[in-house]
Formats: sequence, C-alpha cells, structure tokens
Amino acid sequence: MSDLIKDIPLVTEESTSESCEMKVTENTAGEGQRKLYIESYGCQMNFSDSEIVASVMNEANFGTTSNFEEADLIFLNTCSIREKAEQTVRNRLKNFHKVKKNKPGLIIGVLGCMAERLKEKFLEEEKIVDIVAGPDAYRDLPKLVQEVDGGDKGVNVFLSREETYADINPVRLNSNGVTAFISIMRGCDNMCTFCVVPFTRGRERSRDPHSIVKEAQELFEQGYREVTLLGQNVDSYKWSSEENNKAWLEKKEKKGEEVEVINFANLLEMVAKVSPDLRVRFSTSHPKDITNEVLYTMKKYENICKYIHLPAQSGNTRVLELMNRTYTREWYMERVDAIYRILGDDCAISSDMIAGFCTETEEEHQDTLTLMDYVKYDFSFMFHYSERPGTLAAKKFEDDIPLDVKKRRLNEIIARQTEHSLERSQQALGKTFKVLVEGFSKRSDEHLQGRNSQNKVIVFPKENYKKGDYVMVKVHDCTAATLIGEAVKQD
Ligand code: SAH
Ligand code: SF4
Ligand code: F3S
Repeated sequence: MSDLIKDIPLVTEESTSESCEMKVTENTAGEGQRKLYIESYGCQMNFSDSEIVASVMNEANFGTTSNFEEADLIFLNTCSIREKAEQTVRNRLKNFHKVKKNKPGLIIGVLGCMAERLKEKFLEEEKIVDIVAGPDAYRDLPKLVQEVDGGDKGVNVFLSREETYADINPVRLNSNGVTAFISIMRGCDNMCTFCVVPFTRGRERSRDPHSIVKEAQELFEQGYREVTLLGQNVDSYKWSSEENNKAWLEKKEKKGEEVEVINFANLLEMVAKVSPDLRVRFSTSHPKDITNEVLYTMKKYENICKYIHLPAQSGNTRVLELMNRTYTREWYMERVDAIYRILGDDCAISSDMIAGFCTETEEEHQDTLTLMDYVKYDFSFMFHYSERPGTLAAKKFEDDIPLDVKKRRLNEIIARQTEHSLERSQQALGKTFKVLVEGFSKRSDEHLQGRNSQNKVIVFPKENYKKGDYVMVKVHDCTAATLIGEAVKQD
C-alpha cells in the first residue's frame, strides 16, 4: 500500500458528518466592519445555513474572521441529533467563556437545532450566551444583535411554514471554489420516532426551483463544478407555482385534482441542464420516497452523480416499524434492486445505521448485518441509539439496551462496513474514472485529490492538472476509504 493513503481513516462514529465541525476559513471583514466568527456542528444543512447567516450579517456590516479571539460576535450553529453533539457544544462554550472574560463586549449567540430545542432555557443554563436563534429566525439576527448592544438578551425560536431563504445569496464560508451546497428544502414531516429533527427544524417546505437553478447557474459562472442539493428528505421535494403549501398540494392530490407540480426528478433535471460540466449530487434520500423516475433521470444525465445516500437505520422490519420509518426490509431491498437494475452495479449506495434501538434483539441486530451484506454499501454513518428528550421513542419506549451492548453491536456494524468498503474499493482497481479535482491531497503537494461520480476519494500525481479540472484517472491501489491512481492521457 502506498504511503500516501496509509492511515486515512474509514468512517467511525467519531468521524461522521454529524460530529465534525466546520469553521470559517475566510477573513472577509473590511475596514469599519465588526468581526463575526461562526463555527458549525451537525449536518450539511447546518453548514449551508451558516453561509446564509454570514450573508445576513454581511448586510448588517459584519465581515467574517477565522480567529475567534479577534471576533466581536461568535455564533455557534448547533446540532441536537445525539447527546454527544450537544455535549460538544457545551464544552466549546466553556472555551469561549475564557475569551469573554477578557473582552466583555463580545457577543455570543447559539443558533440552530440545539437553540430551537432548548429555547430560553439555554440562557439560564449557559450564562455567557446572549442570543438564541432557531433555524427559521436567521433574518432576525441583526435585530437580535442590536437588542444585545442595547443591554438585553436576544431570542427568536419561531418556526416558520414558509421560510426557505430563497432570495439570500449565501457567503461561501469554507469553500474550495469547486464544490458547493444548495439547500432545496427545509424541515421534515416524517416523525421517525428516534429523531429530534422534526422538532428542531419544523415542517417540511420546498424552495422555489427557479431560485435553485439560478443559484446553480451563478455558482457555475463563478467556476464551481459541483453542487449538492440538500434536504432531510429530498425525494419528497414538491413545488407548485399555484401555491407553495404542502398541505394544500396533498389535499388537491387526494381529491384527484390536477395541479402542475415540480417534483424532485423534475428539479434534478432542471439543475443537470445548467451545464454538462456541472456535477449534481443530492442528499438525503428517504427509502420510502425514492422513485424510479428519479433513478431514470440520474441515468439520463452523465453529470448527475451515481451515488445515493439511502439510510436504512435497521435491517429488521419490526425495528423499522418501531422507528416509524414506514418501509420494511423487503421494500428497502426492492429499492436497492431497482437502483442496481437501472443504474448498474457500480452505482454507489451509502447508509446511516442505528445500533441498539429500543427492544432490538440479537437476531434483529443480525438482520442489520445481513442487509449490509445484501447491499454492500460503499460507506456508512454508524451510531448507537441515543435517546432524545421529547421524541416519540423517548415518550413511548424504554431505552433498554445497555450501553455496552449498543457499543458491541455498533462495533460489529462498523467492522462489517469496513469489509464492504474495502471490497467496493477493490472492485475499482484497474478501472478508469472521471475525477473532479478539489485540491491538493491531504498528505502531499505533489498529489491532487478529487472524487469520482460514485463519491469515492481518488488521489493521483499532480502533473499539470489543477483544481476544478476533470481528469481521467486509472486506479492501481486502494484502502477502504481511498483510491489511488494516475491520470491517463486523453486523445
Ligand atoms: N433525514 C435523514 C437523517 C438525518 S439525521 C434520514 O432520514 O435518513 C442523520 C442520522 O443520524 C440518521 O439517519 C440516524 O442514523 C442518526 N440519528 C438520528 N437520531 C438519532 C438518535 N436519536 N440516536 C442515534 N442516531 C440518530
Ligand atoms: Fe429525522 Fe426521519 Fe426526518 Fe430523517 S426522515 S430527519 S431521520 S424524522
Ligand atoms: Fe443536527 Fe439539526 Fe442537522 S439536529 S443533524 S444540525 S438538522
């Protein structure tokens, strides 16, 4: 194995999208501007929201800084998905406490899901916090800052049925200049029993498709070559120019009345048509909603990436029912069959798995492992169940699987995933992939790194290639998480 790729970790519970953080890397604060530092936890939606926050604050004459010690305003954009995510934020607030002692004028705001979950209680529990703002209150942030300037605390945790921030042009905070996120919807109506998101993000709503296409077009013109369309459940995207209200649309559909609707497959096509050189990704797909129409649209456009994040959560039908996922093991397998049938075996699929949900037996846990054997995921985010206050599971079921059992089951899931990831990587040996270059490899300036359509990271010698190029790379070595290859010359 090459030195280059040794030790690149495969995903574990510690390195998942939800527990990693995004910091501001750009210093945009100019003369006469106050300085804002933002740190974001949780999912990509949160990272994308921080870019909206930076834009709103920019209008109020705040520029960004990458150094929290010189900030006038610190925002923590927080996550509530598991207990550990919340603990991380509380620890971080302790660090900022020290900074605030030396700088009494410093304003500290907590945004996002934890702010929404705890509301005013946050101000009592964490005395250094000045602002608490939920995910739908970001337009109000300049006003909340003014209130703090005037000696008060600022709180807005109102959840909206309409807000999509469609007209706000995000400030790209942590950008490589090649790949960007575009939020296409907000909220979630699914009510999985373990999940806090419907409570922290409110009702599901879809963003105007024309504003999405415009954002993609502008990104392309600025040199971006990949966009990821984001939502908790992108396959239930639905928008009508007549009235953008999900309940209204569903009522019309039930009555069998004709309404012209743009669904997710339509939206994907609209974005794919921006340019054949703009790659399109999306996340997350809910197994109950992903349609063959979406799969055929993916097949039709080379620039829609052949990668689907399709979280199963469990491989057992009884557990899935307790989770209120509204599909069975068989339904899930049928959707996977459809993906491989329509898009071919090299379409990559990834998952999220929860080990040790309430009342899960050893046999039911085995069903998760055998489902993994069936699908052969490229990649998974894996967690043990963490009870969240206020969720249906917390109210209805006992969190009865001991922590050591949860952890053991989780380790078995991680071990199985590692085998499958390696197997999937090995299938790529000898093959040539189109790679979009995102920058230098983490380990060497002589090598570049990018991803193929299947979302696998590929490292290769730089030669004369640069960020933003599409390069055909032949793979000759791999680990579970990374492929390594060499550019092949094109005629
Ligand atoms: N909308 C996505 C999930 C977003 S949350 C979907 O439905 O697939 C990301 C992942 O966190 C979930 O898929 C789930 O695996 C995990 N998760 C959510 N709540 C959890 C909890 N209470 N304990 C452990 N993991 C949880
Ligand atoms: Fe949570 Fe389920 Fe919604 Fe995903 S679909 S955000 S797991 S409630
Ligand atoms: Fe966390 Fe909220 Fe995302 S709870 S995972 S930041 S939607």
